[in-house]
Amino acid sequence: MTAFTPQPRPCWIAGQPEQGVRDLTVQHPYDGTEIATVAVPGPEQVERAVAAAAAVAGEFRRSPAHLRAAALDHVSRGLAERSEELAELITAENGKPLKWAVAEVNRAVSTFRFAAEEARRFTGELQRLDTDPAAEGRLAMIRRVPRGPVLGISPFNFPLNLVAHKVAPAIAVGAPIVVKPAPRTPLSALVLGELLAETDLPAGAFSVLPVGNEETVALVRDERLPVVSFTGSGPVGWSIMDAAPRKHVVLELGGNAAAVVCADWSDLDFAAKRIATFGNYQAGQSCIAVQRVLVERAVADDFLPRLLNAVRALRTGDPHDPDVEVGPLVDEAAAERVEQWIAEATAAGAKVLVGGGRQGSTVEPTVLANVPADAKVWTEEVFGPVLAVSTVDSVDEALTRVNDSAYGLQAGLFTRDLRVAFRAAAELEVGGLIVGDVPSYRADQMPYGGVKGSGFGREGVRSAMADLTEERVLVLTGIDV
Ligand code: SIN
Repeated sequence: MTAFTPQPRPCWIAGQPEQGVRDLTVQHPYDGTEIATVAVPGPEQVERAVAAAAAVAGEFRRSPAHLRAAALDHVSRGLAERSEELAELITAENGKPLKWAVAEVNRAVSTFRFAAEEARRFTGELQRLDTDPAAEGRLAMIRRVPRGPVLGISPFNFPLNLVAHKVAPAIAVGAPIVVKPAPRTPLSALVLGELLAETDLPAGAFSVLPVGNEETVALVRDERLPVVSFTGSGPVGWSIMDAAPRKHVVLELGGNAAAVVCADWSDLDFAAKRIATFGNYQAGQSCIAVQRVLVERAVADDFLPRLLNAVRALRTGDPHDPDVEVGPLVDEAAAERVEQWIAEATAAGAKVLVGGGRQGSTVEPTVLANVPADAKVWTEEVFGPVLAVSTVDSVDEALTRVNDSAYGLQAGLFTRDLRVAFRAAAELEVGGLIVGDVPSYRADQMPYGGVKGSGFGREGVRSAMADLTEERVLVLTGIDV
């Protein structure tokens, strides 16, 4: 496990490592041990970071694509070279089992590589205007330019790859970025700072500011950061919108993702194992972890015992143990909240089929049935290892119940029937539908984001690059189109 370093890890101010005005102690979610201290910058340092981002914006926007692509490639290679160290670090700061931390590092390697590739082909398009007689001899050249420096606010549940999803697209388009990592998990973001500092990016192109939530409010309001890209909880996300109504805001918020098992799906073992795994991976702390399970009645009796066995087989414990599949939640308060939500549901008539208990910050993988429609474990985002199972009489009923949610991030549909798949894609109010698998599937190059209470705007490298930029049109006249 990562050795504790008494010297605070530096924050990054306009590309330079600096000590701060106070130290932040990072604790291991599993047992509360101190794993590192981090330099927290003061107001003067924050001001320098923002001023530098604003000052370099023009130069960075005009920088050649090869420079930005080379920097992104360098970070991708650096992450790969330091993958073991980084996986241990992610597990230590976040508590996710090592195998999921390894997966996260691999994804971040890809996220930066995809961004390097996209930076090289981010060209714009030509539009002929002579489709109208009045515009004969005219041609529009449409290019995308950065809206301006970006404030990236990232959550604790993917301390490396969700920071990568803020940083990599911004650099790819030439937008300076100021990153505010989650206070519980700043360490991976600071390592990203180290790798970015090894590149030829201009000073001010990036800063990593592990400041508290209060200082973040001032950053959100700062007009020199016209774009805010936020991943985290709904209440915080919507408060950002209220605080900065004139900014371009991207909100990646939560969800209570549903997986539907249709009667035509014959491989019930596969569906059960995938749902058990992805209801509990990272102890359920993913916005697309399976939470609601809707099973068609015709297969429910066959499916349910398989699901319960698969959940019972998941090992909990020390997340550094390579055999452990379910580790702690991010802290004990989070685990207590999940325990409380389970208790509320059972008091209202829900039945615990597996689990339900808590030891410290670890909640046992839990399956609930007969959950009332207004119980929080059904209507809200649990962000814990809890599956709520319900039976439906038809696909129609399943689709209606998936949509009966304040959220709409992703859904999973186990069916082999293409007509059902297309109907679901048309009818479901979600940003993404995964057919033949759980809603938790995310490829870092594809668009990712939600509708309704799950936010708006899209990540996924190319989509984020579009979101961080706006179109500029250059019309050429009197030419042979
Ligand atoms: C999230 O929790 O929103 C991110 C999920 C992922 O990147 O896999």
